[in-house]
Amino acid sequence: MNTVAAGRADPPQDERRRPRPVGGRQRGAALPVPLVGRAAEYAVLADAVTAAGSGRGGGLLVCGPPGIGKSRLAAETVGLARDKGFTVVEGRADPLLSGLAYAPIVQAFRDHLRAPSGEGIEELGVLFPDLRPDAPSTGDPALQRTRMYESVLAVTRRLAARNPVLLFLDDVHCADRGTVELLYYIGRNAGELPVLVLACFRSGVANEALTAMAAATRRDPTGRLLELAPLTDRAVRELVGHLLGAPPSPALLRAVTSRASGIALFVVALTRHLATGRMSGPLPEVIRDVVLEQVNQLGETERRLLEVVAVAGVHGRPAVLGTVAGLDDPVLHAALRRLARTRLVVEHRSGAEPHYRIAHPLYAEAIYGELGISERRSLHAAVGAALDASGAGSTVASAPHYAAGGDRVPAARAVEVFSDAGRRALTVGELDEAVDYFLAALRRAREVRPEAVPALLVDLARVEQGRGRLGEAAALLDGAVTLGARRGEEPERLRAWRHLQALLEAERGNVRAAVDLARATGRRPDRDPPMRLMIHWIIALREVDLAELALVSKELAELPSTHDTPTAHAAARLGAGVLAALAGDPATAFAELSEALELAGRCGGDAPHVAFPIRMLLNGLAVVRGDLATGIRVADVESTAPVRLWLPGATCYLETMLATTRYYAGDLATALTHLDHAVAEARRVGGDRLESRTLATRSFLRAERGDLDGAEADLTAARRRYDPEQIDLKDAVELAATALAVRRGAPADVPPLTGTLPFGDVQLNCLRTAFAGYAAVHSGDEDEADRITGLLRASGHDAAVPAALADLQQGLTAILRGARAEAGRLLRDAAIALRGMGVKLLAAHAELELAELLPRAEAAELTGAATAVLAAAGSSPFPARATRRGRPIGKAGALTRRESEIAPLVGQGLSNAEIAARLFLSERTVETHLRNVYRKLGLRSRVSLARWVR
Ligand SMILES: Nc1ncnc2c1ncn2[C@@H]1O[C@H](COP(=O)(O)OP(=O)(O)O)[C@@H](O)[C@H]1O
Ligand SMILES: [Mg+2]
Repeated sequence: MNTVAAGRADPPQDERRRPRPVGGRQRGAALPVPLVGRAAEYAVLADAVTAAGSGRGGGLLVCGPPGIGKSRLAAETVGLARDKGFTVVEGRADPLLSGLAYAPIVQAFRDHLRAPSGEGIEELGVLFPDLRPDAPSTGDPALQRTRMYESVLAVTRRLAARNPVLLFLDDVHCADRGTVELLYYIGRNAGELPVLVLACFRSGVANEALTAMAAATRRDPTGRLLELAPLTDRAVRELVGHLLGAPPSPALLRAVTSRASGIALFVVALTRHLATGRMSGPLPEVIRDVVLEQVNQLGETERRLLEVVAVAGVHGRPAVLGTVAGLDDPVLHAALRRLARTRLVVEHRSGAEPHYRIAHPLYAEAIYGELGISERRSLHAAVGAALDASGAGSTVASAPHYAAGGDRVPAARAVEVFSDAGRRALTVGELDEAVDYFLAALRRAREVRPEAVPALLVDLARVEQGRGRLGEAAALLDGAVTLGARRGEEPERLRAWRHLQALLEAERGNVRAAVDLARATGRRPDRDPPMRLMIHWIIALREVDLAELALVSKELAELPSTHDTPTAHAAARLGAGVLAALAGDPATAFAELSEALELAGRCGGDAPHVAFPIRMLLNGLAVVRGDLATGIRVADVESTAPVRLWLPGATCYLETMLATTRYYAGDLATALTHLDHAVAEARRVGGDRLESRTLATRSFLRAERGDLDGAEADLTAARRRYDPEQIDLKDAVELAATALAVRRGAPADVPPLTGTLPFGDVQLNCLRTAFAGYAAVHSGDEDEADRITGLLRASGHDAAVPAALADLQQGLTAILRGARAEAGRLLRDAAIALRGMGVKLLAAHAELELAELLPRAEAAELTGAATAVLAAAGSSPFPARATRRGRPIGKAGALTRRESEIAPLVGQGLSNAEIAARLFLSERTVETHLRNVYRKLGLRSRVSLARWVR
């Protein structure tokens, strides 16, 4: 707990045991909470008390906005002083008595003068005529005042002769001028006395004497002025916890922290209010009172202006405020200055023109809350119109005001503003906001601008699509196209909408429907050729129609001859890249696509639909080149936010690609994290295709991790949604099935490798082929093994990963044939190449096989290194071994991670005790694990296990 300062001031212990009553705390009120978050300030006050106690007195001012905790801090100080034997002379200025001269001083001293000794009565006769009715008058008011100040000082001095004195006045901003001067006078003279003068006042109140005193105190080296800052979030959390007697819920804490902005009084009031379960609703009375008390002191002009500032919110530029409040510049600026001095309003100076805001969110709420509904609407409508007229930026500023302006806003303009604001919200991914605006626009458009309705339906469809509600999106698009056709919408626009429909159908897995829609619209030029071509292109890719793909890519490549826009140039490089890839030239493809991505980066937000496919393709190409770092960099998931609006699966695709890339890099844990995200995304945006694809990929990774049951479950689920027509699905499902069958030692379950994709998800495809190779070797099918080597070799001269995998595959096949020397050479090449590219797991597979062909000592080292890689990835070394030996891994499934850590150590000749020590396990645990290993592998002795793993 962090109540009061530790160290210099030493009260915390006592403080906590005996909380001090604060101000006029009522009987039966809840226990006061400990002081929070004021350690430094308390230390200053405690030091001053200590100093005064030893004869070095002085003056101390504490100021800040209402409710910040001035009185509370002072109360702590008063308590401390009392504990130290001080005589406390305390009073408070009362706003209702601010006309009475010296009222707080009289109040403070009265009790002390009533003391039986009657000391001081003589001197204070002027202040207390009832005590000394015969006090002589000097006739000179100034001189009389000096004498009176001297008298009060003399009384103070006399009191201080017995015990040190703390003279404390609260709320001095409400005091008369005389009180302030007198206080200052005593403070100035207290330097050599055991007297501390402490005064609290509210900042921002126009009190001339007080301002002068504060300025003088700031200059005076012995005087101190403490300006209390808002409580930190941490202190607020602590305070809320104390108030509730338990740690607050995150929701409640957030509600309090964000609204109270560190004002202690608001924290207390809001916590009590919200703890009753009302998370919204009217402001607590105390808060309203604090604010309105200040507002009520304003003149009519300021008050009106304050309301306008409250309504304008973040857009309080003078031009707007002046227009809405109907004030000329000089009057406006004078009023703004006065408001700023009250601290109800603060001036912000960012950018060219300053703007004004209500100083505290709860002030704004309170002031706003006092306005009637129709007043609010009129003001909002006026602010919206003023923003519109000032041309300050865009509809982003005026739209919320038009929305709050209700029926006061001209409907036709509202349609424009809301449509525009909705589209802007859409591009930044604020879908809820976008829907609100589109619906508001639609409501008015139906009455005043029916021709705008179809486009608004399209907008709403995009939101639904972005939310993954593909069915709703399709219905809205359908409605838009039908209505548009009926209303004679421009043909180009209609065509663009049909393209969106086509894309949506493709996304929903209705590839046929998508192709029909896309074909029906033709490929004639229209307003957004890159977009249109991209849609054709994505569909072509999905359908793996290579002829169509080539055609569209060619058109993309030629775009700049008719369109000289950055987007067109990026799209052109994309087209060129695809053409190169189709022509079997991955090096050129990689270069073109890298350039395309860079160009797309320069298009700003205009080209997400171009950048996304570039990222996908580039990731695959980078991975098969063995450039895993680039593969990870380009698959930037953050970049997909804007694309998701019309391609909701975008994030899911990239997460899946990242997962496969991480698999290549030997980081199965991260790979699975990406896939968990991908699966969640697939479920969020719906669509069997996506879900099937992600589940299949996860099944593969789970199998590689030795979680065969999890893999099986994912594969079953993926198959349920599997549509063999969709080739990108086929690869993922077959990869999982193959890996699982290899791990289970069930060659009969391995799906046959029919034609491979020359294009598509190349990294997945590459794995699919490699694992088919493992399976062929596994079942001793030399011809199939050779065929797969050939497929891997055909992947192109620049694709280093498939080339290395071809070596691995050919090496495994050579072992089958008993050609040990050839096998050793090939496996060594494969291992070195894969390791060099950081393709760790596949390299480890090659190394384990190679070790088998080497002399003992060399083999042990290599096995150890490879096993370490596999163990670090959570993968088991045995599938590879099982593959080569044609030996099933055992009925009970693969070894657990622990088991696969222990087994190789037996192979290295370690005793159970040594293994236990190395893995921080007990010997008994190691024994149990080994028993399971024997059972799973069908082995009977330590020697046979050692031979098995070697
Ligand atoms: N540092 C603090 N720790 C705990 N409670 C505080 C703290 N500061 C203020 N409070 C509580 O907040 C409320 C308002 O504080 P108060 O001292 O009356 O404000 P001010 O005098 O500045 O207007 C009181 O209930 C007070 O007990
Ligand atoms: Mg106070």
